[in-house]
Amino acid sequence: MPLNFYIETVGCQMNVLDSELAAASLMEAGYQPVSAKRYADVILFNTCSVRQHAEDKVYSELGRLKHWKDQKPDAIIAVMGCMAQKDKETIFRRAPHVDIVLGPGQLRQLPEIVKSVEKKREKRLEISLDRIDGKQSDVRESFQQFNPQRNLRVGSNPYQAMVRIMFGCDKFCSYCIVPSVRGPEQSRPPREIEAEIRQLADQGRLEVTLIGQTVNSYRYSEGGKTWRLQDLFAMIQEIDGIRRIRFVTNYPTGMTDELLQAVRDIPKVTPFLHIPVQSGSNSVLRRMKRRYTAEEYRDLLDRIYATIPDAAVTSDFIVGFCGETDEEFQQTVDLVKYGRFKNSFIFKYSVRPGTKAAELFQDDVPDSVKRKRNNELLAVQNAISMELNREFIGKTVEILVEGISKTAAKSCDLLQIDPPPSQLSVQLTGHTPCDRIVVFDAASEQHRQLIGRILPATITHAAPFTLFGKLIE
Ligand code: SAH
Ligand code: SF4
Ligand code: F3S
Repeated sequence: MPLNFYIETVGCQMNVLDSELAAASLMEAGYQPVSAKRYADVILFNTCSVRQHAEDKVYSELGRLKHWKDQKPDAIIAVMGCMAQKDKETIFRRAPHVDIVLGPGQLRQLPEIVKSVEKKREKRLEISLDRIDGKQSDVRESFQQFNPQRNLRVGSNPYQAMVRIMFGCDKFCSYCIVPSVRGPEQSRPPREIEAEIRQLADQGRLEVTLIGQTVNSYRYSEGGKTWRLQDLFAMIQEIDGIRRIRFVTNYPTGMTDELLQAVRDIPKVTPFLHIPVQSGSNSVLRRMKRRYTAEEYRDLLDRIYATIPDAAVTSDFIVGFCGETDEEFQQTVDLVKYGRFKNSFIFKYSVRPGTKAAELFQDDVPDSVKRKRNNELLAVQNAISMELNREFIGKTVEILVEGISKTAAKSCDLLQIDPPPSQLSVQLTGHTPCDRIVVFDAASEQHRQLIGRILPATITHAAPFTLFGKLIE
């Protein structure tokens, strides 16, 4: 009897991709995906440690599953991902009904481990070496790579795919746990990336997103040539079938002129640039161990908008970092105003034991102040997002039509426009090259032919996070 599995995923794109790969490999081994935990025999949590809140949520969910496991003793509970690598056997102590703890560098063993737990009912802990636990080459090797054939049934839609071009991170920003849980930075060989993207193109994928913690640090040397991110762009440009190339996340100092020119000149590369800056204050950036100043980041923005006039830049911010004063925070507000970001992800600082910031600084900004700063920054950003989106009204954009809109109903409320009568038309959603969501109506009988195509549309309305448009006949 094949077992049913359910994967719950939190965290960044790395985890989203890992969950897709894990699901595909479990399906290959004969397991069936189900749509809710209650139908599953194997429940897997793909976890994130970047903030305390993300961990607390998983532990409380695990707590709730105790009763479920008592009633279903043959069920298997697995904790994968960054929290598995970080907390190791502590997870078994805090949640004794967990069967498997599997680090992100051990993913390829997943089906075999689930099978063995099914048979032997023994707990399994498989993680990579900690960065201080051995020679760098041993640590690197302990983060095994896993790039299986993609399954079209897995993932948000069959027209887009993420492709990992690098693993790990060596930047060691003082607040960040990622370098310890994802291991040393390693770039994948271009040949492997090319082969994977050719396969994805053969499956009918139109858009690939190259992912890594700092994709613009990509560097791979072979045969006397050193490949950088822009060389990957040029290679993918030649792959028939792929129409769009996206890439996330970028580290500010890696945005060289060569890279910006490649974004401008290589037609398939979309002008969407996610470049987290974290703070607008030099003293905070120094404490964060970011390797640039606010002025350098402003110069970068100037260079971007001068080189790529239609660039859509997005950023991440941490508010309430250790010692952040009102003045320092105000410098961040100023930078958001200057940046004209399409949108920003704003986080309240969360102290991560084991990081430099946890060791060196006091987490001394009260939560109420963090919350206030978060809301204030978000309000400034949302006004800018709305303004930028309004500029699209009347313009024509190309959208990759992904499927039926889930958020359409909500956005309609916001704009106080009537949703279309559902029997005549459906609302579809897609993305522009600059990563804006566009919602539009399509006749019911026609909508299936539109999904999975790149089509022109005219924008008619705008909300801060959504554009509304009409397909051009
Ligand atoms: N590699 C990416 C980001 C990875 S983590 C980069 O450097 O840009 C995603 C975001 O989480 C970070 O950009 C940062 O804004 C936030 N973050 C990381 N550690 C955090 C912490 N300890 N507390 C709050 N936010 C954090
Ligand atoms: Fe974390 Fe900094 Fe690496 Fe991004 S670059 S993953 S914030 S250490
Ligand atoms: Fe979280 Fe791990 Fe990503 S800690 S942000 S899931 S690399």
